[in-house]
This record gives sequence, structure tokens and C-alpha cells, in this order.
Amino acid sequence: MCGIVGYTGHRDAAPLLLEGLQRLEYRGYDSAGLALVGGNRDGLVVRKLAGRVAGLVGQVAGEPVVGNTGIAHTRWATHGAPTQGNAHPHVDCDRRIALVHNGIIENADVLRAALEQAGHRLTTETDTETLAHLIEDAKADSLEERVIAALEHVDGTYGLAVVSADEPGKIVVARRGSPVLLGIGNGELFVASDASAILEHTRSVVYLNDGDIAVLTPTGYHIVDSESHVQVRAVDDVAWDLEAIELGGYPHFMLKEICEQPETVRSTLRGRLLFEQGCARLNGLNLAPQALAEIRRIVIVACGTSWHAGLVGRHIIEALARLPVVVEYASEYRYRPQLGLPGTLTLAISQSGETADTLEAMRAARAAGSRVLGIVNVVGSTIAREAEGGIYLHAGPEIGVASTKAFTSQIVALTLLALLLGRQRGLSLEVGQDLACRLAQLPGLVDRTLALEPQVKAIAQEFADARNFLYLGRGVSFPVALEGALKLKEISYIHAEGYPAAEMKHGPIALIDADMPAVFVAPRDDVYQKVVSNMQEVKARGGRIVAVTTEGNGELRGVVDYQLQVPATAPLLSAILTAIPLQLLAYHIAVLRGCDVDRPRNLAKSVTVE
Ligand code: F6R
Repeated sequence: MCGIVGYTGHRDAAPLLLEGLQRLEYRGYDSAGLALVGGNRDGLVVRKLAGRVAGLVGQVAGEPVVGNTGIAHTRWATHGAPTQGNAHPHVDCDRRIALVHNGIIENADVLRAALEQAGHRLTTETDTETLAHLIEDAKADSLEERVIAALEHVDGTYGLAVVSADEPGKIVVARRGSPVLLGIGNGELFVASDASAILEHTRSVVYLNDGDIAVLTPTGYHIVDSESHVQVRAVDDVAWDLEAIELGGYPHFMLKEICEQPETVRSTLRGRLLFEQGCARLNGLNLAPQALAEIRRIVIVACGTSWHAGLVGRHIIEALARLPVVVEYASEYRYRPQLGLPGTLTLAISQSGETADTLEAMRAARAAGSRVLGIVNVVGSTIAREAEGGIYLHAGPEIGVASTKAFTSQIVALTLLALLLGRQRGLSLEVGQDLACRLAQLPGLVDRTLALEPQVKAIAQEFADARNFLYLGRGVSFPVALEGALKLKEISYIHAEGYPAAEMKHGPIALIDADMPAVFVAPRDDVYQKVVSNMQEVKARGGRIVAVTTEGNGELRGVVDYQLQVPATAPLLSAILTAIPLQLLAYHIAVLRGCDVDRPRNLAKSVTVE
């Protein structure tokens, strides 16, 4: 989704801004631009275009821009097509003010009409442009006061960075519902929507809260609220290295992140397994044992891949802790009446920690009296900060738009929680100890699973031209089927559906023929034989089958066309292994079809609008 980067200091801003935009490219965007102040006799210079940051780099190289203060943006179109005119920064009538904006101004139509009536000339189709004119219109002295005054008229969400030719050296930043952080350097300050844009220059960051207005100059910054009361915010250290956001020899971030999974699963487990007690240590939950004991039901809210991890988690929690779990699409849940049932624990699962629907679902649950925990990857993200506590994945930055390593770590985190809750509720010591050992073995098993890649690649070659796929599984493997189908459709644009294998005969079986490959997720577990019967049903109708199953499963020969055998583990943990060949299959099919794997069309990494 849209990205923001800004700089004020002693250095030439343009190269820093362009480099920051390149670091944000992974978020998904369709146009890019920058504005500089302080180096030009006209005060303000703007360059922008539809297309890639590389184009902007070329444009700036051909027609250099100078200035020590600037803001830049990658846009993911919401209001208005991805054109040069609609790209950010946007300016006021006199081109004295420029701003970049993430989020949505919901009352933009009303504001536009009022501004035009007052004589402003708006030239784009965007909601954002209204902000520049509102600031121009504001009756106040300093830029920050004008921004505060303008924002009083605004409904909606924003992460905003504003510069003015009349106050060169200053950037005013505002946040409501769309993440922004400040980066603190030596005699220089940065603003960014995500730490990766500025990590090369500083690790010290300040995460802004909703309602914060920050004023940056090369000599320092201060933060105020909308009544100009000073706010103090902690300075945090970004824990990961630049290496984590670089390709490191891989052709794509998606493949790199798939291959990182032995290490990311290990990181999610690190220090959390209590082998002797057969339990898990999760200090970040911030819940006393008594509060944990009072939980009567769990509601999981999440979107996309994180929702699929939640479905896997439901099986695991219900099996180990015997607690009822419902898994809700955050976007649906937030608009339903909240029942406020006593003893409810809400778990918000999100890689980015910024997904707008998940955040709002979590807020709605909290307002209805639920305790709320987050299972989040990005440290310091909004969901992580607003939750009472939770479990960080520690999977490192996920840059590939298709979520992979976060999925397996989310399942690991949910299993740790299930183990802890289970041990409080009668799960035996022996079962707990066994599960702790099985969890500790996972990184090695993930490593072995990755060795399937050459086989997966050969299967990808066979099916790269297919137009439809069916993914089938039962029990804990049904959400894996959903996830396999999502991976394939989002990066290769092949239509794919995930279905509970036994439901197939209630309709989708009509689709089966030689042109509709069926991918079965069928590890050896208590529904395995049933799934084999479902395979037979497909086979009988001339369907071609790929089965992801458990090592040593010779009996599928003759039933399926291709087998991908993952190592054996506890059936409840199988999703962590069976998901991996499906990630690889989607990846290789997309590569063979020439798709831009890390930047799939229309998609954004972090969905900060509803
Ligand atoms: C799919 C994918 C999305 C995200 C979804 C939620 O590969 O990445 O479906 O899972 O947008 O994002 P987070 O987990 O950041 O809340």
C-alpha cells in the first residue's frame, strides 16, 4: 500500500528520498513522486509520474532537483486512476505547500465542493488534494497550526507529511489510522511509513500514535496533540538488519522468505518451550494465570493468510485446550453486533500489525469488553501497541507481497498458546512434553521439506498452463488448502479454489476433468483414509492429482499423479510442513508464467485502508 518517506537535514534530500522509495516498493504501488524545498528559487519543486520508482530516478537524474528537505511517496490508487496527476505529492493553488498522504479522506467530496466554491482550483481526482487546499485555507501562522486547523475538517484516516516553501527545513507529520514513524539521525530527521525506508541511516525510531502531530527540523522534533499539548513518545530501536530486507542472492523475496522458514520457525519458538513442564512460556501475553484460567471462548479476527492461520489455530486450540474458538474475517466481524460474552479472549492475527480491518475488529472487540491479544510480526506496529499483550512472531521483515514465513510462524505461535492454555485445562504432562519436543524438531523438518523444491518445480512445469485449480483438504489441512489456493491466485493469476475435500461432492465435483488439477493436502492423520476416498472420486472422473502427503506413503501410487512427501510430525503440526510445497508450487508456476512474483498486480503488502 502507499508508502511515505521524508527527510530534513544537512544532506541532499533527493537521493535519500529515492532510495527510501525503492525500499518501500515491496508494499505495492502504481505511481511515485517527491517534493523538495529549500534548494530552489521558486521554493518548491515537485516531480512525479505513473509507474515505477526507477522512472522517477531517471527523471530526477535527467533534471536534477536540489534541497535539504523533502517528502516522497509511492501511491496505490484508491481515488482516481494511477496517473501522473493523481500521484503524490499534491500541492495547493499557489504551489507553496506540498504533501503526501496514506489513508482515505472520507468526506473528500464535500470538502472538494466547499473548496471549489471558495475559489480553489483542484486539478486531480484524488481525495488527498483537498488536504493541500485546506491547509492553504487555514487561518494560522505556522505550518503545524495550519495542518492542525485543516485536519479539523477531515473525516477519515491519514499518515501525512507536509512541507511548505515558506518554512523550508520543516516537515509536519500527522497520524490518524495510518502508520508513520520518525527516524532520528545525527543532525537529521526522517519520516517513513515503515522502518525499512530509513534503516540504512538510523535504527532509532519513534512510532507516532493516532492524533499525534510531529514537527521536524534538522535540529530536532516535537510532538503535539490536536490541542497543541506536547506529547512524549518513546524512542525504540529497530532490531533487524538491512540484510533482512535485501535479496541476498535470491531472485525474489518470496523465495527467500520461503527458504528462511527453518530459521523463522526457530525464532518464533526461541526461549518459549518449557520441555520439563510440557508447556510454553509466553511472557508477552501480559495475562496473569488467573486471567488465562477465566477464558471461556476465543474469537480470532484476521484477514487473508492470517485468517487461514487462525483456522489452523482453531483446530489446535480446540484439540489441546478444549476451548471453543471462532475465526472471523475481521472485515465482517467489525460491522456485526458485538455480543460481549463474558470470558471472551479476542486474538488479532496480523503479519504487518497495520491491517485496517483487523485493527478495527480488535477495537470493536475491546469496546465490547473482550480482552484483546495480538499475534503480530512487525514490532511496534499499531495492533501490537494497542493489544493488551500478545506473541511476536520474530520472523523478521516480510517483504514479498505473498505472505509465507509469517503463516508458518503464526501457526507456531498459536500452537504455543494452545499448549499453555491446554496445560492449564487438563492437557496431560506427557502430551505437553511430547508436543514441546515435536515443536522443537520443526525447524529441521521444515529444512527437509524445502528439499522438495526440485520436485515441486517439475510439477509446476506440468501445470503452469492450467487455468483453474482445486485445492482440497480436511481438518487442519483444509485451511492449508485455502492458503495454497490463495498463494496461487495472488501471484500467478490462475483461478484457484480451496475446498473441504468431502464438500467437493456437494457441487465442485462437477468441475473435475483433465483440465482441472486437484491438489490434495493429505498428511497421515485421522482423516487421511477419508481423503484418499475423495482422491478416488477425482481419479474416477479423469482428474489429475497432486498430493502433499507424509513421507513413506507408498500406497498413493496409482491413485495420484504426483506426490510431494513431507516429513512426519504430530498431525496437529502438519500444516506447518504441508503449506511449504504449496508456497513453492505457487512461486514456481508464477515464475514460469512470467509474473512479477514480488509485486503482483493490484496487491499491496499492508492493507491500511478498509
Ligand atoms: C496473502 C497476504 C494477505 C495478508 C492479509 C492480512 O499472501 O499476504 O492475504 O495475509 O492482507 O495481512 P496482515 O497479516 O498483515 O494483517
